[in-house]
Amino acid sequence: MTNIPQTMILGTGRAVPEKILTNADLEKIVDTNDQWIVERSGIRERHVAEKGAPLSELAAEAARKAIEDAGLEAKDIDLIILATVTGDMKFPATACFIQELLGAKNAAAFDIAAACSGFIYGLQIADSMMRNQTYRHALVIGGDILTSIVDWEDRNTCVLFGDGAGAVVLGPSQDDRGIISTYIGSDGGYSKLLYNAGCGCINMPTEENIKEKIHTVRMEGKEVFRHAVVAMSKAMKKVLKQADMTSDQLDLVISHQANLRIIEALAKRLKLNSEQTYVNVDRFGNTSAASIPIALDEARRNGVIQSGSTIGLVAFGGGFTWASGIIRL
Ligand code: ACO
Repeated sequence: MTNIPQTMILGTGRAVPEKILTNADLEKIVDTNDQWIVERSGIRERHVAEKGAPLSELAAEAARKAIEDAGLEAKDIDLIILATVTGDMKFPATACFIQELLGAKNAAAFDIAAACSGFIYGLQIADSMMRNQTYRHALVIGGDILTSIVDWEDRNTCVLFGDGAGAVVLGPSQDDRGIISTYIGSDGGYSKLLYNAGCGCINMPTEENIKEKIHTVRMEGKEVFRHAVVAMSKAMKKVLKQADMTSDQLDLVISHQANLRIIEALAKRLKLNSEQTYVNVDRFGNTSAASIPIALDEARRNGVIQSGSTIGLVAFGGGFTWASGIIRL
């Protein structure tokens, strides 16, 4: 191990909208079928927010659970980082709305955008900010309401996504538990393979832009798939090397839940057995920045991992961005 971790996860939480959209429901919206979706993506159902529902409320619900789990109160939190690409508004940062909903008056709050890799980006940023002793209890949240920006007439994308939020509270570690290693990377050369061109300064909400659905997600699925597998496997190997570890030392790898075939291809490259691989994409779809913290909370609360477990995290998203980490719970 390179150094003694100083920042550990004290608590986790998750929240998803109540409404569930099954593949059978999607068959009524676009020209698709359950068999295609399950075979090509592994997704069976996803939670979807009501139209106009604020991400801040979902994220605050996940955050409250994480704070309670950590045995803390909102006033103890001094840093809030929200990873999202579907915040409530253009500005202020949705993290500020979350701060207000929680009553976390002593925190600095800001958003980061790294698409599906955002949560691990947030972990690394918070870890760095805490290691210099400036912050003591950070809340890192990954949350997205991706269904608010999908084109419900495009079967190539609308079947893949779901909504949700997951949160962790970080605090100082007294032992060998904590964030052992993190790595983040990106390549803007691939920005046009997965993007949403609307709502920024180059595409104003004109009648024509709205008609052309410029505010919805565009994706070259096959290309994204190929790059996701390669980048995530390289990213995971990088943090393993940084930590002087091998994949068989990981109790569980939680990879971004975008597609079951991506998760399986990654597991093969990393030589992971089925017990080391976490899958919940069948029930949640791709929840973007929320996917890893939702899975982490679920795995913890259903006993798949516990205090002392060593876990690999790895993600890939629009940008392209990628990120990985090793934590001891
Ligand atoms: N239902 C039925 N048929 C469909 C559907 C659908 N929902 N979507 C596409 N098809 C059709 C296509 O039109 C195509 O038909 P054609 O051969 O007549 O043209 C056929 O199915 C095959 O399509 P492909 O795109 O080749 O299917 P593929 O096996 O590549 O699977 C998928 C598509 C699931 C999108 C896959 O490429 C994928 O998962 N890519 C990665 C996507 C991803 O993970 N994105 C997000 C990562 S980053 C982030 O999370 C933001």
